[in-house]
Amino acid sequence: MNSSPRIPGNRFLHSPGPSHVPDEVVHAMSRQPMDMADPRLPAMIQACEAGLRRLLQTEKADVFIYAANGHGAWEAVNVNLLAPGQTALVPATGHFSESWALQVEGTGARVQRMRWTEGQPIDPAELEQVLRDDKAHEIAAVFAVHTDTASSVTSDLRALRAAMDAAGHPALFVVDVVASLGAAPFAMDELGVNVVLGASQKGLMCPPGLGFAAVDARAMAVCERNPTPRFYWDWRLRKSELAYRKFCGTPPQTLLRGLEAALDLIFEEGVDQVLARHALMTRAVHAAVQSWSEVGAVQFFCKVPKARSTSVTAIELMGGADPEAMRAIARERFQVAIAGGLGMLAGRVFRIGHLGDMNAAMILGCLAGVEAAMTVQGIPHGQMGMQKAIECLAAG
Ligand SMILES: Cc1ncc(COP(=O)(O)O)c(C=O)c1O
Repeated sequence: MNSSPRIPGNRFLHSPGPSHVPDEVVHAMSRQPMDMADPRLPAMIQACEAGLRRLLQTEKADVFIYAANGHGAWEAVNVNLLAPGQTALVPATGHFSESWALQVEGTGARVQRMRWTEGQPIDPAELEQVLRDDKAHEIAAVFAVHTDTASSVTSDLRALRAAMDAAGHPALFVVDVVASLGAAPFAMDELGVNVVLGASQKGLMCPPGLGFAAVDARAMAVCERNPTPRFYWDWRLRKSELAYRKFCGTPPQTLLRGLEAALDLIFEEGVDQVLARHALMTRAVHAAVQSWSEVGAVQFFCKVPKARSTSVTAIELMGGADPEAMRAIARERFQVAIAGGLGMLAGRVFRIGHLGDMNAAMILGCLAGVEAAMTVQGIPHGQMGMQKAIECLAAG
């Protein structure tokens, strides 16, 4: 029996993943599973693969979907692309680039890290220099996190690709779009990205539990030659028409139904409109944060306005203000669930997720809940935040 008291009304979910799941996705998942010979099963899997390809803007990449979270997708990329002792270059973006780097090392490959400057995106000039210095081409791949969910910094993938080309370096370009897909523009083929990885619980508006990788022909050739022992994650084994082989076992049907429904919603709304909606929600959040930061203890963590993410905004509290206590008040008293700081930002920032199935009323409710919690906690902040967010949404 559930002993927690019922919460009247809705609790607003503004973590940057898991994000709010639309009713259409919830309903799609509330159906009985199919038997393995049911022809609707391969049709649903194909719809998910084709939808991901369309959203990623790739014509030919192979798509591999896993019953796994984002860490599973990282593992798939690590073991399929890197032989033991080979090196991945990981430009630092914050907690998530470092977590990925540690996982690469944990699977037997090596990592060359590029230094982290707080609040800044990856510096393309520095990437170019590091690659130029790698005369022996020991770096097999660049592993870049598009949006680091912990720092809320989005890096410029076009500039990173240009830096790799300018250096004339043959490393694979591998991009984590876990936090950015469906919220920020992305085009795999046009950007010259060899492998993309993502997960279901953020801009894809599904519950956690699915990870995926899209792999171009060049990366697939690297995978074919790679001697790293692997089985569950192996793209060579999963490249098949058979559902049971594609998933190395029984496909996670319920989550796939959800993904199919979520992709339908994205294409019905139109990808451009989805991105424009995210840009508007983000402008409203930024308008509020800008106003809050004019007095007192609040500031944007990302210092470069054009690198601020359209998925999540990390907000730093100064002067001894405790983001965790404020966050608990926001959740328990005002029913607004926001995220805290991760890794080196624990206890320094709180984060507002504004991605996925999100509208103006939800954003205003979230901002009001955060402002109310700051007021309860006595955290000094500018008083025009809500007004500025409303003006921003009114202007459209
Ligand atoms: C950018 C990024 N990459 C990878 C991950 C890891 O995903 P998961 O928590 O689903 O394992 C996350 C999780 O938030 C993330 O934000």
